[in-house]
Amino acid sequence: MTQAFFAPCPRGLEPALADELREIAARPDVAQLAPFDVHREVPGGVHFSGQMPAAYAVNLHSRLASRVLLRVAARGYRHEDDIYELTRAQRWDQWFGPDETIKVEITSQRSPLRSLNFVALRVKDGVCDGMRERLGGRPSVDTASPDARIYAHLTEHDCTLYLDTSGEPLFKRGWRMEKGEAPLKENLAAGILRLAGWVPGQTERPLYDPMCGSGTFLVEAAQVALGIPPGGGRSFAFEWLRGVDQRSWKALKEQARAGARTTSLTIAGSDISTDMLAMARANWQRAGLPGELATKQVDARFVQPPFAEPGLLLINPPYGERIAVRGERRPSVADVPVDSVEEAAANQFAAAFSSTLKQNFAGWQAWIFTGDLSMPKRLRLKESRRVPLYNGNIECRLFRFDMVRGGNRG
Ligand SMILES: C[S@@+](CC[C@H](N)C(=O)[O-])C[C@H]1O[C@@H](n2cnc3c(N)ncnc32)[C@H](O)[C@@H]1O
Repeated sequence: MTQAFFAPCPRGLEPALADELREIAARPDVAQLAPFDVHREVPGGVHFSGQMPAAYAVNLHSRLASRVLLRVAARGYRHEDDIYELTRAQRWDQWFGPDETIKVEITSQRSPLRSLNFVALRVKDGVCDGMRERLGGRPSVDTASPDARIYAHLTEHDCTLYLDTSGEPLFKRGWRMEKGEAPLKENLAAGILRLAGWVPGQTERPLYDPMCGSGTFLVEAAQVALGIPPGGGRSFAFEWLRGVDQRSWKALKEQARAGARTTSLTIAGSDISTDMLAMARANWQRAGLPGELATKQVDARFVQPPFAEPGLLLINPPYGERIAVRGERRPSVADVPVDSVEEAAANQFAAAFSSTLKQNFAGWQAWIFTGDLSMPKRLRLKESRRVPLYNGNIECRLFRFDMVRGGNRG
């Protein structure tokens, strides 16, 4: 039976995710075992459709998606009771039973309903009442590690119910044990790499992150180069759902493993902190990558290219406000009384880093991912590309600077 799916992703990555999904669908193993069609991209994600194994393939291969959601039902609503009725009418027992545990999550865009907690309660009641009427028993709630996660997405007029096929969000690849101060989520890092042109077949160039922290860019980049699937080292919620097609799932995993390549990697990182570098090296090993990650402890203001050939320099510098208000919306630059000491330090760092880029990195493409929207002004460099992206709720930019000796191309 053809199912409709939705793959959410960090905002700004929707076109890149749609491209990635089309590439996954075009893999010979996926086309044979789990074919699917990619549909509309909408703010926050991409729709696709296929039989259930399509969800297995996307969970296994997508670096950019945050989850894979199976669309269960949708209807217009005016009150919580409409959502309750919609939920109660579904045959949830085709996926899980009364002995399993559930968690309900609500997302909303302009819903007129007052309390999303109350909506969550009504969705939970709908699932439990419907199952008790049919089977005489109901699942219990477990918010920490449920067997099944149910999502209700509300727009102004419509409610869509989804069943999550991923479980833990897909940015959790299973290799990160050590977190730095402000690590990038793996799927956002992978999206940035993709936007910077780091895609299979284009990974022979050197890649260097001079503020590598826990090494997220570097590990993701190496896995892309080596054809290691992002989901190869973890499990997914669909594996415990009723009716899982174990044969297709096993075959998809085997094919993915067989697709790994061996190639020499020209990937290196540096950081001012030796602790961070130790974390990056440990993460590299846990991710099953060959050899040792090439690292060096050095201040980014004084870095030299680690390879003779020019390549990609990719950097996610710390940003005072970002770290200070982690998890909250960053007020726009205009309404922040920026601390003048911090401002002066940011300008000083940018001036020094800019002259290092100009003097030492001629021929390199420098990509800077930052919440500091005035970064090009601080660096006194003209960007050749700027891509708006969100890190959670924080508005960011990915800037590209093409370095030539003594400056950059405007
Ligand atoms: C926002 S974090 C980068 C996170 C990294 N992308 C990750 O995913 O883990 C910024 C990093 O810059 C490092 N750092 C701060 N000042 C530095 C400097 N002057 N030179 C080099 N690294 C610096 C910090 O130690 C931190 O690891």
